[in-house]
Amino acid sequence: MAHLFEPQVLGGTVPLKNRIVMAPMTRTRTSEGDVPNELMATYYGQRASAGLIVTEAADVAPSSKGYALTPGIYTQAQRQGWRLVTDEVHRNNGTIFLQIWHVGRMAHPSLMPNGEAPWGVTEERAENSDVFAHDADGKLGYVRAGRPRSLRTDEISALVETFSQAFVNAREAGFDGVEIHGANGYLFDQFMNSVLNTRTDRYGGARVEDRTRFLMEVVDAAVRQLGPGRVGVRLAPFGTFNSMPADPLAAETLLYVSEQLGRRGVAYLHLVYELMPAGNMETAEFKARYIDHTLLAKVRAAFPGAIIWCGGFKSRDNAQAALDTGLVDLIAFGRPYIANPDLAERLKHGWPLAEADRSTYYTRRGEVGYTDFPTYPIESSARRPD
Ligand SMILES: Cc1cc2nc3c(=O)[nH]c(=O)nc-3n(C[C@H](O)[C@H](O)[C@H](O)COP(=O)(O)O)c2cc1C
Repeated sequence: MAHLFEPQVLGGTVPLKNRIVMAPMTRTRTSEGDVPNELMATYYGQRASAGLIVTEAADVAPSSKGYALTPGIYTQAQRQGWRLVTDEVHRNNGTIFLQIWHVGRMAHPSLMPNGEAPWGVTEERAENSDVFAHDADGKLGYVRAGRPRSLRTDEISALVETFSQAFVNAREAGFDGVEIHGANGYLFDQFMNSVLNTRTDRYGGARVEDRTRFLMEVVDAAVRQLGPGRVGVRLAPFGTFNSMPADPLAAETLLYVSEQLGRRGVAYLHLVYELMPAGNMETAEFKARYIDHTLLAKVRAAFPGAIIWCGGFKSRDNAQAALDTGLVDLIAFGRPYIANPDLAERLKHGWPLAEADRSTYYTRRGEVGYTDFPTYPIESSARRPD
């Protein structure tokens, strides 16, 4: 059984010093032009004792923008900005993958190029979900996602090329690899969902091969550009976040994708779920939040790469308990990383964790609630009686 502080070589290529992953988190601190900056370099550098950092999601193109102030990976300035981040993480002996997304229908005309409609798998709107864009008065705030237009088949192929270029950009920006964001109701998830994806071309409909074709073409592009050992995929198959309809074929899709990613030698599969408590496993809400261990065992059998498990981990003990199931290889922490830059050390030594203030998660207040969290004061811990 893996130990939380045991090293691992990801995808046979990328050495990690422990099994702790910093989960991707949008923090909206970019500079003009969606460009990463010194402040972001400091933030990620402070967290480099994680075995692996996965960055906040980066937009693959201007059409991918659903939230103001998220970074991009399509201009030269953005590439150079990311280079500050990767250099700082590497200087601190860390490893960092760039998470790349297209938000699809989770967007708003006020952020889209030429004010056009968001790009959707169909014209179905995310009726109950907000994005961070401009309201009718031009003020930034939470507004309902716009009505999308359905992508044409040739536009999907063009988008695969756009991703391919983004993977080249990520390499040039110094990243150790990329994570494709297939979770949480964004474009890949929209394509994979059998209820939402009612397309009739080769990218949609009843067959799982068709609904997952867009993801697989993008994975193939990533593997071509970076090698399979530097590619990960994030999924939340039962998730209902961002108005995703509950999908009766979610388990089947997950197993198919796991098997296909395994064939391609992809380094890791990153699953977003919480640890399973007792409860009625048949409800949609339960399925969205917790993964059934029997299903996870099937994923494990289908996918030979590493599996990262994320969601609700708060202590060394519950992370180690998850590793002890033998079903996963790495544990990702999201919110605990906000206020604990030295989370790995705190877990290792059993030091208490600091709490973040939600109001600073997404803000333009720069370092406040971002880079101003201290590491644990070692002198005071040395004096503790234990
Ligand atoms: C502030 C914030 C921003 C997030 N941004 C992203 C993101 O950009 N990409 C992503 O895949 N998940 C994102 N998530 C989800 C986290 O990666 C993670 O799945 C979730 O917080 C559950 O893990 P936790 O219980 O350890 O926080 C975000 C979560 C938070 C709290």
